[in-house]
Amino acid sequence: MGCRQVGHSGLWVSEVGLGLWKWGDPSYDGSKVGEHEGFKILDRALEFGVFFWDTANSYNWGSGNSERLIGRYFASRGRRVREQVVLATKIANSVREEHEEKADFTPNQRGASRLYIRRAVEGCLRRLQTDYIDLLYVHYPVLDEQGEYETPLEETWGTLDDLISDGVVYYLGVSNYNIRQIEEAREALRKVAKDASRRIVAVQNPYNLLERDGVSKEEGVGEAEFLRYIREAGIGLVPYFPLAAGMLTGKYREDNVERVEGHIIDDKLQDRYFTEANFRAVELLEEFAKRKGITLPQLAIAWLLSHEEVCGVIAGVTKMEHLEDNAKATSIELTEEDLREIDELLERAGVR
Ligand SMILES: NC(=O)c1ccc[n+]([C@@H]2O[C@H](COP(=O)([O-])OP(=O)(O)OC[C@H]3O[C@@H](n4cnc5c(N)ncnc54)[C@H](OP(=O)(O)O)[C@@H]3O)[C@@H](O)[C@H]2O)c1
Repeated sequence: MGCRQVGHSGLWVSEVGLGLWKWGDPSYDGSKVGEHEGFKILDRALEFGVFFWDTANSYNWGSGNSERLIGRYFASRGRRVREQVVLATKIANSVREEHEEKADFTPNQRGASRLYIRRAVEGCLRRLQTDYIDLLYVHYPVLDEQGEYETPLEETWGTLDDLISDGVVYYLGVSNYNIRQIEEAREALRKVAKDASRRIVAVQNPYNLLERDGVSKEEGVGEAEFLRYIREAGIGLVPYFPLAAGMLTGKYREDNVERVEGHIIDDKLQDRYFTEANFRAVELLEEFAKRKGITLPQLAIAWLLSHEEVCGVIAGVTKMEHLEDNAKATSIELTEEDLREIDELLERAGVR
């Protein structure tokens, strides 16, 4: 398995990682993978060298169960396995106690305040059964109705910096941030951080073959501008929805969307992905992948990895076969000519 450094930091991650959003307790929290199958997939992932794992405190209806499953895995496999894994989690949302269907939250149980962040990270550590988080993201910029930051940025980033001093968080990242918001966070950190090593090392935004400009999280700012910015800022990109939530697996066809099951249907992402141009693009990309002797998910991951700004691809996996398929993408090299042809196919389909 190839490994890359995360931006200008010393942290290495596996090129192919694991997105663990849909992992938890499928009997009640809307997740797809439970402990029984999940532990087998995690064991196999480590055999493949897939050690970059992504979760969030609130995945699966705010249950915290994705983190709990990982925590039980760490507890059962021991310290050596915990230390092999680069574990990323995210905070900003509220989490309810296990098996509690409803909770009345106060405004302090979500957001980006010192009070919330301290409690949220305590909760992550407890559920994950670990004493440190390798990479902690702020899940999204926490803004009020006027679009202003709800919490002064120095408070948010000062608290996150303290967590590094405390030894419970090692690296910091942001998710769903545009260029201006990343700059504002960097500026706040420059003011409050203990030293220059406490930087934003990663950004996690949506990015895949079908949604290229979406990575910037800002109307009118394209893929090229965003990638140039993070390259110059020394920030690694961790694309989310790397397989367009499953659209880039080829399982959804224009003529089967009434019958097929999967992530796009479960999460009501049809309007986002089921467009004529996307269906056309998937057909063309699948033909291209076949000619190269690879699968469509492998092509989608290899294309992301062809960008030096991308440090690891955390495709969501709900079956053992997905892991086995995706892990092979690390050894696929796309040539300049391949990349040109892919751009032409996407243009022909009307995606670009
Ligand atoms: N920061 C954020 O706001 C944010 C938002 C979304 C996601 N994320 C993170 O990003 C990760 C990845 O995104 P995602 O899981 O939503 O979407 P994704 O990786 O684009 O797609 C995952 C889906 O693709 C299918 N799949 C994966 N590998 C496959 C293979 N080899 N063959 C066939 N089908 C395959 C599975 O679909 P089925 O389950 O339908 O079979 C799986 O659920 C998440 O798990 C999460 O950790 C972060």
